[in-house]
Formats: sequence, C-alpha cells, structure tokens
Amino acid sequence: MAITLNTPRAERKTVTDHAVRLDGVSKSFGRPGTGQVVLDTIDLTVAPGEFVTLLGASGCGKSTLLNLVAGLDEPSAGTIDVPGGRPALMFQEHALFPWLTAGKNIELALKLRGLPRSERRQEAERLLELVRLKGTHGKRVHELSGGMRQRVALARALAQKSRLLLMDEPFAALDAITRDVLHEELTRVWEETGLSVLFVTHNVREAVRLAQRVVLLSSRPGRVVREWDVDIPQPRRIEDAHVSALSVEITDQLRKEIRRHGQH
Ligand SMILES: Nc1ncnc2c1ncn2[C@@H]1O[C@H](COP(=O)(O)OP(=O)(O)O)[C@@H](O)[C@H]1O
Ligand SMILES: [Mg+2]
Repeated sequence: MAITLNTPRAERKTVTDHAVRLDGVSKSFGRPGTGQVVLDTIDLTVAPGEFVTLLGASGCGKSTLLNLVAGLDEPSAGTIDVPGGRPALMFQEHALFPWLTAGKNIELALKLRGLPRSERRQEAERLLELVRLKGTHGKRVHELSGGMRQRVALARALAQKSRLLLMDEPFAALDAITRDVLHEELTRVWEETGLSVLFVTHNVREAVRLAQRVVLLSSRPGRVVREWDVDIPQPRRIEDAHVSALSVEITDQLRKEIRRHGQH
C-alpha cells in the first residue's frame, strides 16, 4: 500500500497502521501437494514503532518467515504488506565485508541508499556513535570483537533508513555478558529511532527481555500459537523477576507444543 503525499490526514492514519502485515501466509518447499509445509496460514501485524519477537523452536520456519517479509522469497499463499518499502536485515553472522573498515562498511550502505559522497563520512560517524562505537571508523573487521561486529552490523542496517528492521537471531553466537549489553543497546536504539522491529529468536528469555509483544510459533508446520503483551517497563534485565515469570509461562506453552507434535 503506497502512501502518497496528498493523502488526507484522516486517511493517512489508516494506511500507516502497520509496519508489516501478513494475511494468511503459507509457505511450502518442494512440489505442490507433496512438498513440506513450513508455514501455515500466518496472520501477523507489527504496528509502526512496535517491537515484536517471534519465538519458536529451531526449524519451525522463523528464518523462512523473515525472508518472505524481506522479499527474498515468495509466499505459496497469502499476502505480505510492507508499506514503508524494503526492510533492513540483520543476521546471526555479521556479513560485513572484511576488506573494508567498519566505517567503510557503513558508508557502502549509505552509498546504496543514494546519500551523496560528501555526507557519507559524517553520517557513518553518527551511526557509529549511536551504537557506541565512536572512534572505530578506521578499524578492520578482524580487529573487532564479536559484539563490536554486531554493533557495526546494526549501524549498517540503520544506514538503510528503513522503518522496519528484521533481525534473525542476531545475538545467538555471542557470550551471555556481551548479549546482555547488546540487548540494552538495541532497546536504547529502538527507543531513540522509533523503528519497528521484528526480532526472531529461539531464546524465550531474550524474547521477553526485548519485546512489547511475543508471538509464539509452533513447529511443522509453523503456526501462530499464542501471543503475549509484555507490560514490563524498559530497561529490563534478563534476570528480572517479571521477565523470569513470563519466560516460565511461555516455556511451558512451548514445551506443550513440542510434545503435541511428537518432537524431541
Ligand atoms: N529453500 C529451502 N528449501 C527447502 N526447505 C527449506 C528451505 N528453507 C528452509 N527449509 C526448511 O524449512 C524449515 C524451516 O526452516 P527455517 O525457516 O530455517 O527454520 P528456523 O529459522 O525456525 O530454524 C526447515 O525444515 C528447513 O529445512
Ligand atoms: Mg533460522
């Protein structure tokens, strides 16, 4: 749905009531009829500025769903609407170019966005500062720790200036202490930028720590089982009593789902 500049204000509200909306989205791989159904009739909406985590066991179709939203693949059925244009993506692997410095990786994204050369350096410095990496513009990727690389990857994703950020288990390979710090940073960046975030994880506590809403997916096929609003004020800590209590409730539901489907 395109938003035109001359849309009356009253209508504008209705056309921008979601950052992404999936209606009856299914995805199968293989031949129609005999293939594997990975996602089954998914309805999901992320509001502008909302932070949603999509939680599910490994192999339940989370990455498949994000790829569909990113436009990297087509659904077998249903529709996906992303009114703000192409979303930004961030993965578990930082996917930075090792032959470029941290700053030049970000400048490349700015170039692809069409920002004039004269403004790129300053904007890259601003983004590095936003992810608390001031002074690392000239550092090579191999000189940075795993946590710092993911910060650069976040800055590069932000350089695209998309209104929707898709994150696929971006902190799964980090140690617990670094992950904790990056949770804080991501929450702060989200609050400062007003971005909509769809964050995929198999880690229940991480899902509760970050989100305003947790959406639980079942496995084989992936279906939305239940949603929880998380009314715990930010900044939260992963070991907060309220985060723990909700994590236990969600884990119980997740186990029930796994048992029902005869896995593990
Ligand atoms: N391109 C593909 N072709 C065939 N099967 C695929 C493809 N991509 C994913 N799958 C299958 O879809 C299922 C879900 O995968 P994925 O979305 O990566 O799960 P998750 O990210 O939740 O761990 C898996 O069984 C996987 O083997
Ligand atoms: Mg995955």
